[in-house]
Amino acid sequence: MLNLNFNPFPELKTKRLLLRQVMPTDAKLVMRIRGNEEAMRYIPRPRAKTMEDALAVVKMLTDGINDGKSINWAIANINEPAEIFGIMGYVNFYLEQNKAEIGYMLHPDYWGKGYVPEAILEVERFGFEQINLQAIEAKIDPRNDNSRKILRRNNYQFDRLVKKEMTFQGEDLDSEYYIKNRIQ
Ligand SMILES: CC(C)(COP(=O)(O)OP(=O)(O)OC[C@H]1O[C@@H](n2cnc3c(N)ncnc32)[C@H](O)[C@@H]1OP(=O)(O)O)[C@@H](O)C(=O)NCCC(=O)NCCS
Repeated sequence: MLNLNFNPFPELKTKRLLLRQVMPTDAKLVMRIRGNEEAMRYIPRPRAKTMEDALAVVKMLTDGINDGKSINWAIANINEPAEIFGIMGYVNFYLEQNKAEIGYMLHPDYWGKGYVPEAILEVERFGFEQINLQAIEAKIDPRNDNSRKILRRNNYQFDRLVKKEMTFQGEDLDSEYYIKNRIQ
């Protein structure tokens, strides 16, 4: 059974990064991240264009945590906890399979520094050891080479390609699924 009680919120740390809860006071930076066209290119969600949009994102993330439906961390440099530049977490839990879907994004100014590969290890550890996941799934747009690179390097195995899985803004989208199982 999964442990989906995230109260108190589990802050995580890596060598360079602090992973902490997203707060309403982060809304401006959430807008910078979730409003960035380049960062949102392969994420089929509406871009945050206003402070109201950003606050709605913060509320959705907060509700997910409180309801045990999802858990997302804001990513910041360990020495600058207020300056969040990314979001990562489990966006869905599949209770019958003890599985979760992982998601991550950074503002493009912070790409190419190995931040997501660093953070994902800690988020995975939390998922396997604290939530009790058996498997972590990642779903990517097949055009998202940067995301695929991270998954492959981090030992996720290709699972399946689903053609035309959804329609977003008038475009039919395929999805590639990757999976990482807990090592027994
Ligand atoms: C995918 C993503 C999370 C990668 O995170 P990251 O911390 O930058 O990962 P890395 O530092 O390991 O870089 C991965 C690859 O990104 C590419 N990359 C790095 N900087 C880049 C830049 N400024 N522009 C374009 N590509 C870049 C490189 O090809 C790099 O591979 P390399 O190590 O072989 O050079 C990040 O690109 C991102 O946030 N993308 C937008 C959101 C997204 O698509 N999320 C995934 C949804 S499933």
